[in-house]
Amino acid sequence: MKPVLIINFKTYKKGKENLKIAKIAEKVDRNIIVGVPAPDIKEISSKTKLKVYAEHVDPFFPGRNTGFIIPEEVKADGAVGTFLNHSEHKLDFRTLKETMKRCKDVGLKTAVFASSLAEAKKIEKLKPDYLAYEPPELVGGNISVSTAKPDLIKKISNSLHMKFLVGAGVKNYEDVTASMKLGASGVAVASGITKAKNPKREIEKLLGK
Ligand code: G3P
Repeated sequence: MKPVLIINFKTYKKGKENLKIAKIAEKVDRNIIVGVPAPDIKEISSKTKLKVYAEHVDPFFPGRNTGFIIPEEVKADGAVGTFLNHSEHKLDFRTLKETMKRCKDVGLKTAVFASSLAEAKKIEKLKPDYLAYEPPELVGGNISVSTAKPDLIKKISNSLHMKFLVGAGVKNYEDVTASMKLGASGVAVASGITKAKNPKREIEKLLGK
């Protein structure tokens, strides 16, 4: 089965540089999900056919919420979904639940991150569209989740009823196939692409092209 691939742009780059990576990703495979900074959503959504996600939204309604990002806004800019609860943007469970409800009402998909099996089990009950397990200590490094945590990925696979992705340190096709053999249906990556000299080559490598 083809892996689901999420590229999390984080805040490594900005504006035109992000659009450039998105266009490269689109050329390799337009089914890739990209999570991009809020100010870049509109341009990347209008200039590519990728599935564009926000990296976060807040649960608020239009009104007095200075500096927050509401689901309606990213949806209007062309996002089809949003990440939530990434280890770099943790939410308490109540806020996560509330935000997921807002996203559902507005028609935004959710890709929710979990840092442990226990958290993944709680999140599964909220029925996200995607659930991704990422051990925070491996994020941004060179040791992949499938190398460092094979037993835990297997355990997650045996414990969850829904499909899940894994992320952290994923750089190549071997990491992807190893993750899938352990039960994941895809991967979430960031630095391997956003910091690459040749992002096209790196995306192709991840997809075994
Ligand atoms: O969401 C994906 C991300 O946190 C993984 O980061 O740099 O280890 O691929 P990275």
